[in-house]
Amino acid sequence: MTDVRDDGQRKRVFIRTYGCQMNVYDSDRMADVLRPLGYVLADAPEQADLVLLNTCHIREHASEKVYSELGRLRDAKNERRAKGRDLTIAVAGCVAQAEGEEIVRRQPAVDVVVGPQAYHRLPELLAAAERKSALRRAGKRLPGAGVLDTDFPAESKFDHLPAPSGVRAGSAFLSIQEGCDKFCTFCVVPYTRGAEYSRPLAAVRAEAHTLVAAGAVEITLLGQNVNAYHGEADDGSICSLAGLIRELAEIDGLIRIRYTTSHPRDMDAALIEAHRDIPQLMPYLHLPVQSGSDRILEAMNRRHRRDHFLRLVDRLRGVRPDLALSSDFIVGFPGEGDVDFDDTMRLVEQVGFASAFSFKYSRRPGTPGAMLPGQVPESVKAARLSALQALLARQASAFNASKVGTVAPVLFAEAGRRPGQIVGKTPWLQSVYLEGPAELIGRIADVRLTEAHANSLAGEIAGRHYEAAA
Ligand code: SAH
Ligand code: SF4
Ligand code: F3S
Repeated sequence: MTDVRDDGQRKRVFIRTYGCQMNVYDSDRMADVLRPLGYVLADAPEQADLVLLNTCHIREHASEKVYSELGRLRDAKNERRAKGRDLTIAVAGCVAQAEGEEIVRRQPAVDVVVGPQAYHRLPELLAAAERKSALRRAGKRLPGAGVLDTDFPAESKFDHLPAPSGVRAGSAFLSIQEGCDKFCTFCVVPYTRGAEYSRPLAAVRAEAHTLVAAGAVEITLLGQNVNAYHGEADDGSICSLAGLIRELAEIDGLIRIRYTTSHPRDMDAALIEAHRDIPQLMPYLHLPVQSGSDRILEAMNRRHRRDHFLRLVDRLRGVRPDLALSSDFIVGFPGEGDVDFDDTMRLVEQVGFASAFSFKYSRRPGTPGAMLPGQVPESVKAARLSALQALLARQASAFNASKVGTVAPVLFAEAGRRPGQIVGKTPWLQSVYLEGPAELIGRIADVRLTEAHANSLAGEIAGRHYEAAA
């Protein structure tokens, strides 16, 4: 492959990311893999030679979005070809893993399909796709369309991906754990990402140092079950997430540490204590519970009861009273009756969440839940979801309102929609909008929180001096 196009311009890649933060992390790593091949990032698909969709399979709606996007890309590719140029289309992520050849069958314009564990092999796959299209241009008829790689290789992709090359606005993601062995009956992740794998402590530490040297003041540790982390420590023993956080807290200049997503079964005592002892560990925890009904939790194969979750919340608040709690909920899981849903509503009322994500159950092919009797009608799911979301929205507003009048450190992430406006995050992951200098982006400053809205707060810089990130 050559660094430049025939017209002497640099090759451009446009990456669209769907789904979770792990996909955001992976998209950045794919850009890092493509950079030595000469690719620079494009801002829009129209400017790109290669369009890469990093996809999500978690709910039906997420998957279908990919196919409509691919239809538009096929049209763009045909227009390009009419002008004697080309557009390479690649599909990565969880739809690539789950649907593989089906993607190329439904959309033959796709050149490459690459599963989440094979991103380090992108250069070979693109080269193979380029060879195929050169042969086709030369009039050869080839069997099958795209080039596929959806293996789960024996070696981890992390051993082959280049180190991250940059940090946006002081904040970085760091994947420390991939895959899942829990097999909740609604969920595709164990099939799309494969078995649980934890990166060794030394590799995580080295990457964290690289990120901090590149300007990160905040690192969010990622994993589908991040608190199941059990990486190999330097002496060959096993290091837990709590141990890893303690290590990372030693890094000078790393001011904020977060982690997501956690499973209630893996919240061990050491991790709870870390929320008490480690000032860099932010007072925010995303702890998905999915349902407040023991019967439904069991049918979901969550392998804990509602009481376990409530006790965890008490213990966490016992060590860190200002902890903001967030969660995920599914309504309308097969067999969920009014009584079960009431249990979920009561759990929410009892806990009081600072924020949350809630979804209608989506039947995913190949998961045990899809085959269960008692599938809940769409209208019932919709009514339950709106009742739950109304309650969660009231709680989020109340949480935001509770911070009005206080001063909080805010890490500024980007410019706001209005001119002169900048947006950042409090330790509790609330968005704060204010009029302020763009130089603050990527830095932490003390902000007086003046007004609460449903999903954000307004504020003003507290005092004339603001602290540059160390
Ligand atoms: N590992 C995390 C969740 C990862 S998936 C955990 O164990 O909680 C992110 C969220 O998507 C889940 O928490 C769940 O609420 C939602 N989700 C997953 N599969 C779903 C499905 N089939 N239908 C609706 N929501 C789903
Ligand atoms: Fe999916 Fe359950 Fe694994 Fe979370 S723990 S990724 S919900 S199977
Ligand atoms: Fe979606 Fe895969 Fe993440 S299914 S939520 S992109 S792990």
